[in-house]
Amino acid sequence: MTDMKRLESKVILIAGAASGIGAAIARRCIAEGASIVCADYDLEPATKLAEALGPSAAACQCDVTKAPSAEAAVDFAGQRFGRLDGLVHNAAAPSTSATVVDLDESAWRHEIDVGLTGAFLMSKFAVPLIAAGGGGSVVFIGSQFARVATTRAVAYCAAKAGLVHLAKAMAVDHAAEKVRVNSLSPGAVATTRLLRRFADFDAANAGLGPAHLLGRIADPEEIAAAAAFLLSADASFVTGSDMLVDGGYATR
Ligand SMILES: NC(=O)c1ccc[n+]([C@@H]2O[C@H](COP(=O)([O-])OP(=O)(O)OC[C@H]3O[C@@H](n4cnc5c(N)ncnc54)[C@H](O)[C@@H]3O)[C@@H](O)[C@H]2O)c1
Repeated sequence: MTDMKRLESKVILIAGAASGIGAAIARRCIAEGASIVCADYDLEPATKLAEALGPSAAACQCDVTKAPSAEAAVDFAGQRFGRLDGLVHNAAAPSTSATVVDLDESAWRHEIDVGLTGAFLMSKFAVPLIAAGGGGSVVFIGSQFARVATTRAVAYCAAKAGLVHLAKAMAVDHAAEKVRVNSLSPGAVATTRLLRRFADFDAANAGLGPAHLLGRIADPEEIAAAAAFLLSADASFVTGSDMLVDGGYATR
């Protein structure tokens, strides 16, 4: 995967770590020497992942939409590993395909709750612990659809645009505490999220690949590599940015 060890002695909490991009970020953080907490609504796959990654990984159940649950996940990370250096907010609800006219209010609220309010709540409890340890890095997983809109994805587009700007606002507030805050916006990535629309990844690649300048969708590991950069000291002068890792989707 990589020989780099940029995250040695760092403790990183990943919210929404059980599958897809979150699990790839977990694997990459471990490969680069970090200790990690895999926090997810879905405890069973998060626990299996942590067990597979070894003693530097732990899992906890976390619903990012509930303040006590977000606080408990941060407390768990602090108690298990003694400090916190990084937070990744990767959680997102399944996206409902709808226009503003036909989207249910409950579906709107749930997507905004998980994708945007979840980042607020995780940060609310994680940032003080990161700052107390001398600073660190917060990474929100956004989307190319924070930059450009797409059809029938109003809640998703709004949540992701809000997330990208939340990162900027937090970067302003917490720079003095040496807490860097950035978003990372992928293009289409081969995760089960795409299998709700396509029969398999070949079909997803054929359908979505041409919209990207590089002519294909991404592997989750390509997003995890960028996340590891933002979490590491290699990104020591990077804050308030939205890093597009979208194969050029939003470029034209
Ligand atoms: N796959 C793509 O094409 C793509 C493209 C751009 C951006 N993204 C973004 O990347 C991130 C990961 O996407 P993915 O494709 O790996 O999706 P995924 O559905 O596999 O992962 C999302 C994770 O979030 C967890 N989650 C959902 N609700 C939660 C809650 N209330 N509390 C805690 N955890 C919760 C899920 O259990 C799951 O493990 C998402 O933010 C998504 O919007 C994905």
